[in-house]
Amino acid sequence: MLSCQKQLFSIPEEVSYLNCSYMSPLPEPVEFAGYQAIAKKTMPFEILPKDFFEPVAKLKLLFAELINAKEPERVAIVPSVSYGISSAANNINIKAGQNIVLIDEIFPSNYYPWHRLAMNNSAEIKIVKRPTSIENRGEIWNRQLLEAIDNQTVVVALSNVHWADGTLFDLKKVRQRANEVGALLIIDGTQSIGALPFDCEEIKPDILVCGAYKWLLGPYSMALAFFGEKFDNGVPIEESWMNRLGSENFENLTVYQNDYKPLANRYNMGENSQFIGVPMLTVALELIQGWGVGNIQDYCKNLAMPYLQDLLDMGFQIEEESFRCNHLLGLRLPNGLKLETVKNSTSQRNVFVSYRAGAMRISPHLYNEPKDFERLVEAVDLATKT
Ligand SMILES: Cc1ncc(COP(=O)(O)O)c(C=O)c1O
Repeated sequence: MLSCQKQLFSIPEEVSYLNCSYMSPLPEPVEFAGYQAIAKKTMPFEILPKDFFEPVAKLKLLFAELINAKEPERVAIVPSVSYGISSAANNINIKAGQNIVLIDEIFPSNYYPWHRLAMNNSAEIKIVKRPTSIENRGEIWNRQLLEAIDNQTVVVALSNVHWADGTLFDLKKVRQRANEVGALLIIDGTQSIGALPFDCEEIKPDILVCGAYKWLLGPYSMALAFFGEKFDNGVPIEESWMNRLGSENFENLTVYQNDYKPLANRYNMGENSQFIGVPMLTVALELIQGWGVGNIQDYCKNLAMPYLQDLLDMGFQIEEESFRCNHLLGLRLPNGLKLETVKNSTSQRNVFVSYRAGAMRISPHLYNEPKDFERLVEAVDLATKT
């Protein structure tokens, strides 16, 4: 079992940060990689043409290993999830009468590109509503999702963990159903990759996009995207010179090239060398790899479990264990308890959680320890007595 890794983070003793799903803190080795990278730019003569490409290749390899993708060149460096999803949406043909299936209250970066695609082509967006019942909600929601996919479905877009309340979607079943009707499966892994095991070989997503600044413990303004073979000949959002064959040869850049580098390389953002962000994210992925994603999930489970029961005893409600993860817990408030009261009580005690879609979202990581949950339970208990 992993031990607490608080010593690698700079979170002050008096702060209980249970909010990784909002933004992770940088582990110190990642922070230092950033400082070193900044310093390097003071000596530009030490930055060689190969430095534009080789660190990016290493980062892609690490991400490919994390998601068990066989071909690292199927990974592209993009600036955000919305960019990755838009790259997908721009390359999908859809007609009037066909549909795109989305889960309710999906994160906007995985909504607006589909909304535009549907609007431009008079297609339909089918939103699978969150069931109102608390009992068996995850199971019902998953069933209704499968039922919503029909012969007219072109895209199913979702995440494996709902960003607001941690509901798990059974991607294996969704993939199976999508295959039956020939639909694409587009996944936003921002709230799960790095903390919950994911296997590209098993799920075979057509696209998987993942922001770097949450569970990948990396910097802001970077995301990693896996593109499946259906996108091998697509049109990218921008035409970066770096994505063309032979771009490593700086003396020949104006011998313009018609061909892109293979697989997902055409979708890399311009200036994807990201001289500060790439080394930071590389160190972050190495740390995660060293810890093991399954171990991170187990750590969160063991840490949260005893305190979850306290919260349930106070009347909070949570999804059943088989339909939720352990690193992102969405608890619905008991009747009569005002959100504002809980918010004030937690913030007064330096306990950081989020409030999304009517749920209190608790998202621990390896820097958390029992003391953080004790403070949370105390703050919530006081709120219930106010
Ligand atoms: C599920 C999910 N996807 C994506 C993002 C961020 O999207 P973008 O990189 O487009 O800003 C967030 C941020 O909270 C998120 O929770």
